[in-house]
Amino acid sequence: MPIQRVGVVGAGTMGNGIAHVFARSGFNVTLCDVEQRFLDRGLDAISKNLEREASKGKITADDKAASLKRITAVTDRSKLAACDFVVEAATEKLEIKTEIFRDLDKVCRPEVVLSSNTSSISITKLAALTKRPDKVIGMHFFNPVPVMKLVEVIRGLATSQETFQTVRDLALKLEKTPIEVNDAPGFVSNRVLMPLLNEAMYTVMEGVATPEAVDEVFKLGMAHPMGPLTLADFIGLDVCLDIMRILQDGLGDPKYRPCPLLIKMVDAGWLGKKSGRGFYKYSQ
Ligand SMILES: NC(=O)c1ccc[n+]([C@@H]2O[C@H](COP(=O)([O-])OP(=O)(O)OC[C@H]3O[C@@H](n4cnc5c(N)ncnc54)[C@H](O)[C@@H]3O)[C@@H](O)[C@H]2O)c1
Repeated sequence: MPIQRVGVVGAGTMGNGIAHVFARSGFNVTLCDVEQRFLDRGLDAISKNLEREASKGKITADDKAASLKRITAVTDRSKLAACDFVVEAATEKLEIKTEIFRDLDKVCRPEVVLSSNTSSISITKLAALTKRPDKVIGMHFFNPVPVMKLVEVIRGLATSQETFQTVRDLALKLEKTPIEVNDAPGFVSNRVLMPLLNEAMYTVMEGVATPEAVDEVFKLGMAHPMGPLTLADFIGLDVCLDIMRILQDGLGDPKYRPCPLLIKMVDAGWLGKKSGRGFYKYSQ
């Protein structure tokens, strides 16, 4: 079945980036969120990001206009019935994704592949909510989606080879690099990245170094574009804590114990850049 129309559920940071790259690559996109204001915010972000690409000469002004025209924004999820492929990029809460996957299974044609951009929820669990577990898969994009090359493609226990191939081919059409990973807590990206950020937080908590010094070590010594504490602030300290807890629960190894300083900062409402304060202060 040729994929012409792609459904994207959730128009937030990731959903609008995913809609952007599909539309830019010539796919029609149905972008779905729970309220019109979230769709308006998402469309506004897409427009600004396409404009930035046009100003850098990556696309033409006509490409921008054509990409925007290919996106239809809806609050009525039944409109996703017309889609040939769906990426779910809604809020990272199991109960939200459970409701969405059960409903998508009813709304979408039986042959349609349902993918999730989840950072940490089990693909096998999401697949088991549907009558098509062989057609459920992880398609994990990275932020900012129009820029980052990687797509982690996560096979659930029941994901078929055909489904894997469909997502791999789609990622290549988006000019991304798909990397195959099996379903496990944190997949590869967060399983390796989050303990690094967590350990950096321990060094600050134990007075080994200041946040600035830790970040400089990684920038200058390991050629990381930003240090681990800046990155944690950008990701959101609440998101980092949630993922550490998923690693701790799912893998059961004490090495995944969230740093007590991280827990304390989240309790204080210091969530990083989005709240104006994390390891650093940000003007809002
Ligand atoms: N932010 C990142 O860096 C990043 C990176 C990779 C993966 N992810 C994953 O992507 C997903 C989305 O994250 P985000 O950062 O874009 O979150 P976000 O908070 O920016 O956006 C989530 C959007 O989902 C919408 N939503 C909530 N419930 C919905 C429903 N029932 N139907 C439709 N839309 C609904 C919200 O209104 C919101 O617009 C999560 O699963 C997250 O783990 C995030």
